[in-house]
Amino acid sequence: MRGSIFAALLLSTPIFAAPTNDAASSSSTTPDPSTTGGVTSDAPNSPAWDESFQGTPQPIDGDLGASVLGPHNLPLELEAPDFVLPPTTDHGSVDNAKWPFALSHNRIQTGGWARQQNNGIMPIASALAGVNMRLKAGAVRELHWHSTAEWAYVLKGTTRITAVNADGQNYIADVNAGDVWYFPPGIPHSLQGLNDSSVDGTEFLLVFDSGSFSEDATFLLTDWLAHVPKEILAKNFNVNISAFDHIPANELYIFPSAVPPPISQNAVADPSGTVPHPFSFALSQVNATKLPGGSVKILDSTTFNVSQTIAAAEVTVEVGGMRELHWHPTEPEWSYFLEGQGRVTLFAAQSNARTFDYQAGDIGYVPPSFGHYVENTGNTTLKYLEIFASDRYQDISLNQWLALTPPDLVKAHLGFDDDTINALDKTKQTVVGAPSS
Ligand SMILES: *[C@@H]1O[C@H](CO)[C@@H](O)[C@H](O)[C@H]1NC(C)=O
Ligand SMILES: *[C@@H]1O[C@H](CO)[C@@H](O)[C@H](O)[C@H]1NC(C)=O
Ligand SMILES: *[C@@H]1O[C@H](CO)[C@@H](O)[C@H](O)[C@H]1NC(C)=O
Ligand SMILES: *[C@@H]1O[C@H](CO)[C@@H](O)[C@H](O)[C@H]1NC(C)=O
Ligand SMILES: *[C@@H]1O[C@H](CO)[C@@H](O)[C@H](O)[C@H]1NC(C)=O
Repeated sequence: MRGSIFAALLLSTPIFAAPTNDAASSSSTTPDPSTTGGVTSDAPNSPAWDESFQGTPQPIDGDLGASVLGPHNLPLELEAPDFVLPPTTDHGSVDNAKWPFALSHNRIQTGGWARQQNNGIMPIASALAGVNMRLKAGAVRELHWHSTAEWAYVLKGTTRITAVNADGQNYIADVNAGDVWYFPPGIPHSLQGLNDSSVDGTEFLLVFDSGSFSEDATFLLTDWLAHVPKEILAKNFNVNISAFDHIPANELYIFPSAVPPPISQNAVADPSGTVPHPFSFALSQVNATKLPGGSVKILDSTTFNVSQTIAAAEVTVEVGGMRELHWHPTEPEWSYFLEGQGRVTLFAAQSNARTFDYQAGDIGYVPPSFGHYVENTGNTTLKYLEIFASDRYQDISLNQWLALTPPDLVKAHLGFDDDTINALDKTKQTVVGAPSS
């Protein structure tokens, strides 16, 4: 009942207009219907309900659809209007591109937890995977390594990181909320929760440049030593075999420990020096680039040298604004929603298009070159991360592309009038604001 729900919504959300499915309506700006292609429906296809909606959602839009007779899963249906009642512009088949961490199995340990998303639970995400991890003050994600690179964004608190590279150069840093770290493939490292004034430990997002990464399949210090003959351990370290009387029989993974002292008292002097390019970056200290409808911070190897396989953008979209229609030429986008809520339609070519709704804590995925937008559908600022398995951030703006193409060529495709041609923007907008009218 998109129409009647909208009638009710109009009282509280005046930005929504009642849709129509009148495909026959036309105006001077639409192409002649006799030309190849015909004309599209005039329906605005706004989300069928928003966060203020109080009733039971039904997949009904005028003559289309019918009520749900079986059970409702109300919380999920309220979160996903574009699954229950998709816009009429959706068509065909696009693989699922939404995964809430809330649906991931959580690995609970003394001192913290970790939950993951990879292509086992979200097959479309072939190139990147993610982990959400919490460490209480002092708790350690044990010394380990893996063959994929690791990029991380601290959500809350402060994380102490340590690492040593192949040249025997070490690194230690405290990484704060909104800051980032990156460990190249195979580099051994540890993570530990500090005891900030306001937070007991830390929570962070990890992203790996492989869709099949599993947090349960990394190389752990304790797991290795438990599987080497003790005679070999004694020979390797040139110590008495009794030195290994107390090594754990099983991996520790995440375990409680004392909060470490400040770095000045914790760092180990390294005869080879520290790593040439820092493994962390204080993204929270960078001023965001202001945009018409929000802001963006872009972080890739041009400013964060070590991050040779991960590029990222931290994007905010104000109420009513939208990350403009665009695509990424060669790279898939793995996205993570930090605050607010948004809506994305993936255009997959050959008439295939599917719309997804996202809440804070959800993961999204956009295959390379799929056209998309990210609309703020909530009443608070939308903040999310775009992450790419690449050394450089790249996107193509639809608006800029058309503005920089001969106008007659654009008119011949879309039937635009001169006012619309003049409204095109040769400067990339990235995030557009709420419509003024
Ligand atoms: C957003 O909408 C919800 C649900 O209607 C309401 O409870 C909340 O106060 C609103 N928040 C803002 C900032 O308007
Ligand atoms: C963290 O700091 C608070 C306040 O200083 C203190 O009470 C608490 O014991 C500390 N926690 C740990 C694990 O050290
Ligand atoms: C190792 O230490 C034990 C206990 O102190 C001692 O009995 C043993 O002789 C030592 N072995 C070697 C090779 O030094
Ligand atoms: C960031 O913005 C603040 C406030 O406008 C300004 O004082 C500061 O110098 C800026 N920092 C950088 C690194 O540009
Ligand atoms: C990163 O550092 C290396 C080694 O100093 C240098 O060769 C390379 O040009 C740097 N890359 C970027 C993108 O600045």
